[in-house]
Amino acid sequence: MSNKLIEKLYHHHVLTKEELVALISGLEEEGKKLLFHYSLQTKIRYYGKKIYMRGLIEFSNYCKQDCLYCGLRSSNKKIERYRLSAEEILQCCKEGYRLGYRTFVLQSGEDFWYEEDQLIYIVEKIKEIYEDVAVTLSIGERSKELYQQLFKVGADRFLLRHETASKTLYEKLHPTMSFESRRATLKMLREIGYQIGAGFMVGLPDQTAEDLAEDLFFLKELNPDMIGIGPFIPHGETPLRNAVAGSLEDTLVMVALARLMVPEALLPATTALGTLDLKGREKAILAGANVVMPNLSPTKVRPLYELYENKICIDDEPAHCRDCIEKRITSTGMEVDLSRGDSFQFEKNK
Ligand code: 5AD
Ligand code: FES
Repeated sequence: MSNKLIEKLYHHHVLTKEELVALISGLEEEGKKLLFHYSLQTKIRYYGKKIYMRGLIEFSNYCKQDCLYCGLRSSNKKIERYRLSAEEILQCCKEGYRLGYRTFVLQSGEDFWYEEDQLIYIVEKIKEIYEDVAVTLSIGERSKELYQQLFKVGADRFLLRHETASKTLYEKLHPTMSFESRRATLKMLREIGYQIGAGFMVGLPDQTAEDLAEDLFFLKELNPDMIGIGPFIPHGETPLRNAVAGSLEDTLVMVALARLMVPEALLPATTALGTLDLKGREKAILAGANVVMPNLSPTKVRPLYELYENKICIDDEPAHCRDCIEKRITSTGMEVDLSRGDSFQFEKNK
């Protein structure tokens, strides 16, 4: 049964919701092997052996939201908060550029301390200094005007995971946020001209196979340039401290299914997967992922950007992560690609 569905998905890039639910809940070892084989083949068909590298700069861990799963939630009074200055961020880019990165991902909690002018200045400056880099923003929900201005000064891409496509689950997990606004924001970002990234967590408390099928359907419909999928991992200073983490296997299955549903997407092998399993990122690459985002933040602030516990790379220098990731990529038989690595859709429409 599973094998038939996998064949169908491989050839048509879509299944009905019922079929997806059946596949997600009934997959056995042999089916998984076939699924990973096809998802890797699909990745290779569109992107060859290339794996893109992005330098991740976590520039502030302040957040005004209060998501139940996240260690940066505003109710967590135990973490020490930090913000990098514009100069410190530019310094990270300098180091990143030297290490070969041509995409910088600027990520933070929802921190409104950064005046609009300051964010605009940072993006403008990066694009002025480095002509051949792409800037990806991951700063949460802000005003349309700010998104427009940031795009105007050169920001290329925007990551805003939808987190879960189940309205009930979304509302339970995000007491300070709106399910509708999250989705509307993704569409708004696309209309402005950004390459957009959506994505979700696997293994959230009470998440069902139907919810996961809904996530895949949402992605199919939205057709984003990038799709970030990672396991939920509990954090001790959140209400979900005693919840069970998402599993490696379930997450890999979702990565593979996302590759088959949205074959052209850029799909990172996420840090959360590397946290669950020493070889989590390599396994994600072999399941169809084609992007890695090693950490480029200054070592002194890394332990403070604690979305979940036991996050990897907190003691490692940027150069170390750069080399570590390269070795991991080549160990899978793939090749590092240090170019900007725009999405397939973007390249097609250029
Ligand atoms: N476990 C796994 N992923 C998490 N994120 C936040 N908190 C956790 C957690 N406890 C993810 C969210 C967010 C991204 C930056 O990190 O999906 O969008
Ligand atoms: Fe940071 Fe491997 S990526 S140590």
